[in-house]
Amino acid sequence: MEGRTGASRYDETYAAWQRDPNAFWAEAARGIDWETPPARVFDPGLGVYGLWFPGGRLNTCHNAVDRHVAAGRGEQAAIIYDSPMAGRVERISYGQLLQRVAKLAGALAALGVGAGDRVVIYLPMVPEAPIAMLACARLGAVHSVVFGGFAAAELAARIADAKPRVVVSASCGLEPGRVVAYKPLLDAAIDLSPHKPDACLILQRPEATAALKPGRDHDLLEAEAAAAPHPCVPVAATDPLYILYTSGTTGKPKGILRDNGGHAVALWNSMRMVYGVGAGDVFWAASDVGWVVGHSYIVYAPLLAGCTTVLYEGKPVGTPDAGAYWRVCAEHGVKVLFTAPTAIRAIKKEDPQGRLLARYDLSALEALFLAGERCDPATALWSAELLGKPVVDHWWQTETGWTITGGFRGLGLFPMRPGSGGKAAPGYEVVALDEAGQPAPPGQIGSLAVRLPLPPSCLPTLWHADGRFRESYLDAFPGYYNSGDAGMVDAEGYVWVMSRTDDIINVAGHRLSTGAMEEVLASHPDVAECAVVGVKDSLKGQVPLGLVVLKAGVTRSEAEITQDLIGMVRDRIGPVAAFKDAQVVSRLPKTRSGKILRGTLRKIADGEEYVVPPTIDDPAILDEMEGTLRAAMR
Ligand code: COA
Ligand code: AMP
Repeated sequence: MEGRTGASRYDETYAAWQRDPNAFWAEAARGIDWETPPARVFDPGLGVYGLWFPGGRLNTCHNAVDRHVAAGRGEQAAIIYDSPMAGRVERISYGQLLQRVAKLAGALAALGVGAGDRVVIYLPMVPEAPIAMLACARLGAVHSVVFGGFAAAELAARIADAKPRVVVSASCGLEPGRVVAYKPLLDAAIDLSPHKPDACLILQRPEATAALKPGRDHDLLEAEAAAAPHPCVPVAATDPLYILYTSGTTGKPKGILRDNGGHAVALWNSMRMVYGVGAGDVFWAASDVGWVVGHSYIVYAPLLAGCTTVLYEGKPVGTPDAGAYWRVCAEHGVKVLFTAPTAIRAIKKEDPQGRLLARYDLSALEALFLAGERCDPATALWSAELLGKPVVDHWWQTETGWTITGGFRGLGLFPMRPGSGGKAAPGYEVVALDEAGQPAPPGQIGSLAVRLPLPPSCLPTLWHADGRFRESYLDAFPGYYNSGDAGMVDAEGYVWVMSRTDDIINVAGHRLSTGAMEEVLASHPDVAECAVVGVKDSLKGQVPLGLVVLKAGVTRSEAEITQDLIGMVRDRIGPVAAFKDAQVVSRLPKTRSGKILRGTLRKIADGEEYVVPPTIDDPAILDEMEGTLRAAMR
């Protein structure tokens, strides 16, 4: 885990940002082409807590694609699509990317999509996913990408909220051992949603073609081929680029909003400052375009910086083996790899000695970055030893779009401390707050919060929900953004992210709401009440466990009911929820006023110390809970 010591310019860069944040961001903004330069760097009087780069006009697609072609990078690979699932490797140059994006933008425009209109993108990991995102950005339209592992009902909720004019989707996704037909899911979602899109563009994949609904559905590749290329439409820096729905504490997902200007500046800057890469370098974020890591580091940031980005449609193991990541790094000359600790744990489980790694030449690889969930020290140490390269854990969220804390290759790495997410990125003042909202002393656990204003790229608000934005993030600690994570900041400024303070769990790096799963379980006719908790899992970090109390007089067997529940969560939320275990319990721990003590259950599941709540109606139940939760841990 040791990075370079002594040579880091982190402290001076952080201090420079603290002294004059506007100067720091004004310098970063020079990395972006503006049609109209911003009038101000930040205006605290606009929006909910201020807005970045007001008065500026730009086009994100121009910055990610066109300007690199204009600068002579047209022949350089922009995207390397590597799909062990489809058995294909395809290299798309910046010149080719420009042609495809401009024509798909033309096809969308022909369907009536213009600046400010929404487009839902429900695609697997194929080049058409970034192409569709960039085509929207080109038009000033707002995309909302939905992860393929979600079920029709989740897609419907997003269509209902975003109200897209067009949905871009595919006939199918490819998961190991099965072809996932996307089109029936899309059709069901449109049926469920009160809002109906005017049109759907469907990518027909050879593995399974889909029936198209006349008048509504169009073949994506045919529409693209027939379209006239569309130029970039400049938009205000403060205009939305995309909405990305993420799990909140209820079943209704939160529409995280990203603007154009702040996003482009922060992401461009992050490539040099955080990852230490620049134009021409190969960068690989082994994630999915449906998640924020995919938005930021498969698509926008590497392309804004003129890098080559790898789009990998496969898994860390089983496609075909635990050497897959190392093969991709070696074949494509990846300089920096970014993935989730779960992926490394999966590789470690199958190839603990790194025998498969030894087959590949990883001389181009300079660092491994990890995020998406807490990285256990054993995983960080194992990968650092195996690779003999710096391994950097960095903490971030869908809400921020780029790292809150980490190590900074571009500034020279300071030594990382396994188990910690590194130090605050210039742009963020991170504190642990006690229950009174006061900064806790170093080393003391509290609610991790960021002093307002949040830096560029962070959500200015939630899509059409300023009130929910304030309630969810700003009201708990006035003057701060409440991250929803608990942890501490130590005396040297390292931030240790320990757990969530709400109902969100992290399953294999995927963020899920236990509240949403509880809503599904509670709808079963035999369930009186329920709770879903994340229990420790040695591979996925956490997996959900349903605890259900049955109604009196239920005659069906517990096994039948738990099978129903597992099927219901899969159907309504999706396979990605990985909900595979439900236990019938006699009762749940509650307060005397009847509120389920979810916080206490969470602590038991996390193996944390807890105090028996004074308001509990029956303390004896906690022993039964401990037994059930321990038995479920793997
Ligand atoms: N479309 C349809 N189904 C999908 C899907 C998609 N895009 N992505 C996942 N699923 C399905 C899987 O097929 C699986 O279904 P199953 O229950 O029928 O097996 C289920 O959702 C759970 O998937 P996953 O979380 O990928 O678990 P897994 O057991 O198949 O694989 C790992 C385990 C560790 C290999 C996998 O979780 C992984 O690669 N994790 C890294 C995650 C990551 O990169 N996250 C990005 C955050 S930075
Ligand atoms: P997401 O919005 O899906 O990126 O998930 C964000 C959440 O994942 C954070 O709030 C944390 O709970 C967790 N997380 C992400 N990265 C890290 C990290 N490096 N260390 C600890 N937790 C992390």
